[in-house]
Amino acid sequence: MSSRSTVILGTGSYAPERIVTNDDLAHMVETSDEWIRTRTGIRERRIAAPTETTSDMAVHAARNALADAGVAAQDIDLLIVATLTPDMPMPATACLVQPKLGVPTTAACFDVAAACSGFVYALDTACAMVGSGRYRKALVIGVEKLSAVIDWQDRTTCVLFGDGAGAVVVGASDQPDCGLLGTKLGTFGDGADLLYISHGGSLFPSTPESIVARNHCIRMKGKEVFKLAVRAMDEAARDILEQHHVRADQISLVIPHQANLRIIEAISEYLELPMERFFVNVDRYGNTSAASIPIALDEARRAGRIKPGDLTLLVAFGAGLTYGSALIRW
Ligand code: UT7
Repeated sequence: MSSRSTVILGTGSYAPERIVTNDDLAHMVETSDEWIRTRTGIRERRIAAPTETTSDMAVHAARNALADAGVAAQDIDLLIVATLTPDMPMPATACLVQPKLGVPTTAACFDVAAACSGFVYALDTACAMVGSGRYRKALVIGVEKLSAVIDWQDRTTCVLFGDGAGAVVVGASDQPDCGLLGTKLGTFGDGADLLYISHGGSLFPSTPESIVARNHCIRMKGKEVFKLAVRAMDEAARDILEQHHVRADQISLVIPHQANLRIIEAISEYLELPMERFFVNVDRYGNTSAASIPIALDEARRAGRIKPGDLTLLVAFGAGLTYGSALIRW
């Protein structure tokens, strides 16, 4: 793959202040704390203030990652934002983050749209660009303000999602066999109709009627998505382990996309790797889509669960339907 090793120099995350519990949601739709906890593992989620934007949250997480890495914003020459909830359709959220952070005007700034797999896609892109030697330091941000596209009257989706941001700084290293060792990305485009936002794009521009029908909100066929998520994440994990001749028990920590505790438990069972080797924070944040893996990665590092020399496996799944895994040696 890349000509130079690409390493994660620092991580950061940000969660909005407001906590919405399952009981809070039970006042809004016909649901219960018991149903949400037993079906998903979620206890609460963070919801951004109405005036707090996706780019604002991205900036908070990015500042934390830059501070952790000891890298100045002025030294970033590549800025990639993974999100399905950009501030607006145009320009890219990365372009709005750039001046807020003080990233130079000579930096390449763009968004990646791969839904919940977005961070793994963006990390792979950044590592390829830095690994090629044409860029020196990249900032990769996964961020979502899903509260803006949730149908708060649909109990089958509104209990699942939350807002937040996570970021990493990527740089090159001369040390072989470290950093991003490889990725496995894929897509089941035939399943695009299982998880989508139908209106607000060029196929169905928003109309007064579509807004009333809340067609600008997330719709999901949960059961079908659940089954494909387990299959795809298991395969993505197995493929990359095989490719790199690594046994599952050599992985010290798996950082899976945080959509549903039951999905994570199923993958733990299939990989025959105990749940202690999986980082879980879905109970506190719900599903934050592209932000879920970088938030979990940052929390895992801060909790001392990643040590030099460790092998970490990231594994994601989302609308598209996209999936991806990444193997990292620290
Ligand atoms: O991040 C991208 C990937 N996304 C995912 O991976 C999500 C994958 N899907 C899931 O996590 C699960 O399918 C859900 C959590 C969304 C749903 O869990 P489920 O066990 O598949 O439940 P279900 O959709 O089969 O619904 C079971 C019952 C239904 O009632 P009936 O038809 O059995 O009478 C639903 O109407 O639960 C009902 N229900 C609820 N009840 C209380 C659905 N949502 C709720 C709710 N509160 N919030």
